[in-house]
Amino acid sequence: MKIRTGTLANLKAKQEKFACLTSYDALTSQIFDEAGIEVILVGDSAGNVVLGYETTVPVTIDQMVHFGKAVSQAAKSALVVIDMPFGSYEISSSQALDSAIRIMKETSADAVKLEGARPESIKALVDAGIPVMGHLGFTPQSVNQLSGFKVQGRGSDAEKLLAQAKALESAGAFAIVLEMIPAGLAAEITRALEIPTIGIGAGAECDGQILVWTDFAGLSDRSPKFAKKYLELRSSLADAATIYRDEVKSGSFPKTEHSFD
Ligand code: KIV
Repeated sequence: MKIRTGTLANLKAKQEKFACLTSYDALTSQIFDEAGIEVILVGDSAGNVVLGYETTVPVTIDQMVHFGKAVSQAAKSALVVIDMPFGSYEISSSQALDSAIRIMKETSADAVKLEGARPESIKALVDAGIPVMGHLGFTPQSVNQLSGFKVQGRGSDAEKLLAQAKALESAGAFAIVLEMIPAGLAAEITRALEIPTIGIGAGAECDGQILVWTDFAGLSDRSPKFAKKYLELRSSLADAATIYRDEVKSGSFPKTEHSFD
């Protein structure tokens, strides 16, 4: 069954949680899709994870379209959401609309995500028929302004964040990612909104959870405190590569069964 934005709303109404992962390629998307992951986000974390950048700031629309096409054609059931990269929506609602239309047309994705409190831009996209996921709290594209990777929404900022979440909901966002905010605040926002919240470092009370897939799989060289490793892919790959190298050097690979007559 294809997951749609309405499916997530129904899950929230039934108080059923859902799981989201990032992906940037067809192979992992197909695996996560078949495992029943409800939302696959083509995050601009691709900039860090795939392209080796320090931040997501340099990521371009062309790059997001490239990754987005691969994910969209591989994921049959999951809702595929593409991140709008830094510089593609901040100037005006009309710039946001142009960029979102291009991403939707070229990737065949189901929705886009944009960071920050930008209800006007979200409304412009929703009015044009494009489903939009919001993203509040720690917003990686603003890492320079936020003075690094820091928990957001503490103290008097909590009220502001709640107001921003309500504004995104009123603008028509179908869900909001809450990144690196106190668990109590995320729970309050989740109760206050009709649309689902998706937490990453925001405690257990959000309606859904998301992880960057390389953190979830233990492939990243360092991963944030909030990410649980569900396997140790980095060390398994390193061990396998070492064994392969040793076997090639010793001549024990390939054997006859790997060769043609
Ligand atoms: O780019 C990304 O992977 C994200 C998630 C961390 C939510 O925005």
